[in-house]
Amino acid sequence: MKIDGVPYRSLWWDADEGALQIIDQRWLPHELRIQQVDTLDDYADAIVEMRVRGAPLIGATAAYGMALAMAQDPSDANLDAAWERLHETRPTAINLRWALDRCRTALRGTPVADRVDAALRLAHEIADEDVEINRAIGTHGLQIIRDIAAAKPAGQPVNILTHCNAGWIATVDFGTATSPMYQAHDAGIPIHVWVDETRPRNQGALTSWELGSHGIPHTYVTDNAGGHLMQKGMVDLVITGTDRTTRRGDVCNKIGTYLKALAARDNGVPFYVALPSPTIDWTVDDGVAEIPIEERRADEVSHIMGVLTDGSVGQVRVTPDGTPAGNPAFDVTPNRLVTGLITERGVCDATPEGLAGLFPDMAQAAE
Ligand code: MRU
Repeated sequence: MKIDGVPYRSLWWDADEGALQIIDQRWLPHELRIQQVDTLDDYADAIVEMRVRGAPLIGATAAYGMALAMAQDPSDANLDAAWERLHETRPTAINLRWALDRCRTALRGTPVADRVDAALRLAHEIADEDVEINRAIGTHGLQIIRDIAAAKPAGQPVNILTHCNAGWIATVDFGTATSPMYQAHDAGIPIHVWVDETRPRNQGALTSWELGSHGIPHTYVTDNAGGHLMQKGMVDLVITGTDRTTRRGDVCNKIGTYLKALAARDNGVPFYVALPSPTIDWTVDDGVAEIPIEERRADEVSHIMGVLTDGSVGQVRVTPDGTPAGNPAFDVTPNRLVTGLITERGVCDATPEGLAGLFPDMAQAAE
C-alpha cells in the first residue's frame, strides 16, 4: 500500500545492503522510521518490542531471521538455535511457529552448502505468498460487503467495525481484515469504518493512519463504544483479524475481540474474521483451554504514547505511580460467536467441517 503516494511493503529486502528493512511501528502513526535489521538478536528484539507486529508480519520477519542465521552459520546446530531464539519471542500468534517450522523443515532437507541461498529464497517466498493470500481474502470479503451494501438504501455507507490493526502493516501487504475494506472502497462501494482504539498499544491509531492514507472514511472510537454503536444500529458488520484460529474455528485475537463478538451476537450483527491459512493451528481444538496468551509489560498499560504539546513524541503515565497493572495481550472468541471465516480459499463456517472443507489438504496433513 502507499505512504504519501509511495508504494511500500511493511518489510523488504535491500539487496545492496544484504539486509532486511522494516518500518519501526512503535513510532507510527506519528513518524515513519525505517530500520535495518542486522543480527539475530535484533530480529528477536524487533518482534518482542513490536517494531514489527501482527501475526503474518511476525511470521515473515522470522523467515528472514532464519535466512540471516544461515548466512552466518548454515549448520544444523545453528538452524535449531535460530529456531529457538526466534520462537521464544512471542507466544500467541501461530504464524511465527508456522514460518519457523517451514524454514527448518525445508532447510534440513537442503545440503549445507546450498542453505544460504535457499533460506533467503524461502523468506521471499513466504513474504510474497502472504501478499497473495491477503489479496484473495480481500476478494472474498468484498462479496460480503457488496451483499450488505445491496440491502441498504442506495448511497448509504456500510458501517464496519474493526479491532486492533489487521491492516497492511500487520502483514506484508494489504492486511487481512482491511483487505476487503480496501477492495470495497476501490470498487466504489461506500464504506465507513469504526476503528477501535485497542488499548493498551493503540493499534487502532495504526488502522486510522492506514485507512486515512487510502481515503477511507473512518472514526476512531474508544474500546468501550462498540456495544453502544451496535445497539443503535450503527454497525452493519464486524471484521477482525486473528493471531491463531483452532481447527474448530475458535479465534484468538487482540484483547477485547471477545467482548466485541459478544456484543455483535446480542445485537444480531455479523461477526467475520479474516483468516490466512498460516494462522490456523491444526493441532489445537479448544482455544480458551489450549492457546497460550501473551502477558506483556505493565508499563504498556500504565503509560501511553503520543504527541506531546511541544510536538515531540513521548510517553505519559496515566495511573498513580506504582499501580499494579495486568496486560493480557489476546483473548479467545469461541467459534459459536463467529459468523464466518474469510480465508484465501473462500468463506467458511467457524466449525471443524467448515475449515476442513476449504483446507482438506492441511486438515489431513495434521492428522
Ligand atoms: O500484538 P499485535 O499488535 O501483534 O496483535 C495483532 C493482532 O491482534 C492482529 O489483529 C492479528 O495479528 C491479525 S493481523 C493481520
